[in-house]
Amino acid sequence: MSALSGKHIILGICGGIAAYKSVSLLRLLVKAGAEVQVVITPAGKQFITPVTLSSLSQKPVVSEFFTANTGEWHSHVDLGLWADCMVIAPATASTIGKMAHGIADNMLVTTYLSAKSQVFVAPAMDLDMMAHPSTIANINLLRSYGNIIIEPESGELASGLVGKGRMEEPEKIAAVLEAYFSKKADLKGRKVLITAGPTHEKIDPVRFIGNYSSGKMGYALAEECASRGAEVTLVSGPVSLSISHPAVRVVKVESAKEMLAACEEAFADSDIAVMCAAVADYAPKEVADRKIKREHSEVPVIELVKNPDIAATLGRSKRQGQRLVGFALETDHELDNAREKLSRKNLDMIVLNSMRDKGAGFGTDTNKVSIIKADGSREDFGLKPKREVAADIVDTILTL
Ligand code: CTP
Repeated sequence: MSALSGKHIILGICGGIAAYKSVSLLRLLVKAGAEVQVVITPAGKQFITPVTLSSLSQKPVVSEFFTANTGEWHSHVDLGLWADCMVIAPATASTIGKMAHGIADNMLVTTYLSAKSQVFVAPAMDLDMMAHPSTIANINLLRSYGNIIIEPESGELASGLVGKGRMEEPEKIAAVLEAYFSKKADLKGRKVLITAGPTHEKIDPVRFIGNYSSGKMGYALAEECASRGAEVTLVSGPVSLSISHPAVRVVKVESAKEMLAACEEAFADSDIAVMCAAVADYAPKEVADRKIKREHSEVPVIELVKNPDIAATLGRSKRQGQRLVGFALETDHELDNAREKLSRKNLDMIVLNSMRDKGAGFGTDTNKVSIIKADGSREDFGLKPKREVAADIVDTILTL
């Protein structure tokens, strides 16, 4: 039986050529046993008729705030509560902008703002609109609200141009929803500690020693664990990411020392700890309390001291049953270095990424990892989005 069977789904349709594909999506969802309520924008009706949609969904299509001739009020609040998820496909640049900024001038955006469940957004637009900074910023805002963006494909567009902007195929969108509902709650009741991002080690009030870590892998792991039922403490160095899952508590830190203190506090109570942060190995011995000036000083020499090794510290205090996972980002002798860290830090498993692999490591949205367990076994994974890598990591932790 499909995981979609019996699920209440709001299908939001905007005014774009890709609206014709929404009909196939609707059919697929209904065939899988879902109950689908279509909400269409006024512009959407220019592309696809409510008659087609209501006969397929077996429900009147909602578009206006009330029915003109009877005055019957359509409650977006009730719809929001009814839904197990909402999927907006196609989502146009205009509707994405309205969703991002709360401009509730139609039934679709009002329903979106009332929706309590997971929202999926499948953008469709011309490549230049897709690449406009305003669209990119609005999509990032939706992400920061916890919405899942089903990325458009690259290909031939209605305009005749070729590029990114084609709505993902209905089969793939249905598969994303199916995967969402079949997601296991296999971390329910578990407490997970995750470190993410770089650390900044102060030199003076305006300078620090840092690294290029973006925090994306650690944040993806936190989302993944939370969506699988865990209670997550995310100890994060300075990054420009945010997370909105209610089961993730974010503790913001700056230096390795602060990160260690936050981790020691959370670890005692944790079942699993994943050390994803790129911790600076050294910190300046002295922090100047004023900005170091150029003119009247010699070339400054900054003496460094070793930072605490957070993973190794937790490894020493690990209780039976606790699982400790580390990362290794290497440029050479990858496997040997990773194995050495696994044993030196008393880890149960280490996730290795090589700087030599294109699309892996700092700042990218993808990663390519090998996972080595303390029993010596190893599994190599292909290049994937970081969220999928996070799922592979969690699946592997659960085999420990
Ligand atoms: N780590 C940590 N505290 C540190 C340094 C590293 O917790 N001070 C953790 C990282 O989060 C990662 C693992 O240890 O999970 C390996 O980090 P890495 O920087 O690759 O290892 P180092 O021990 O710093 O070794 P090197 O820099 O020499 O490669």
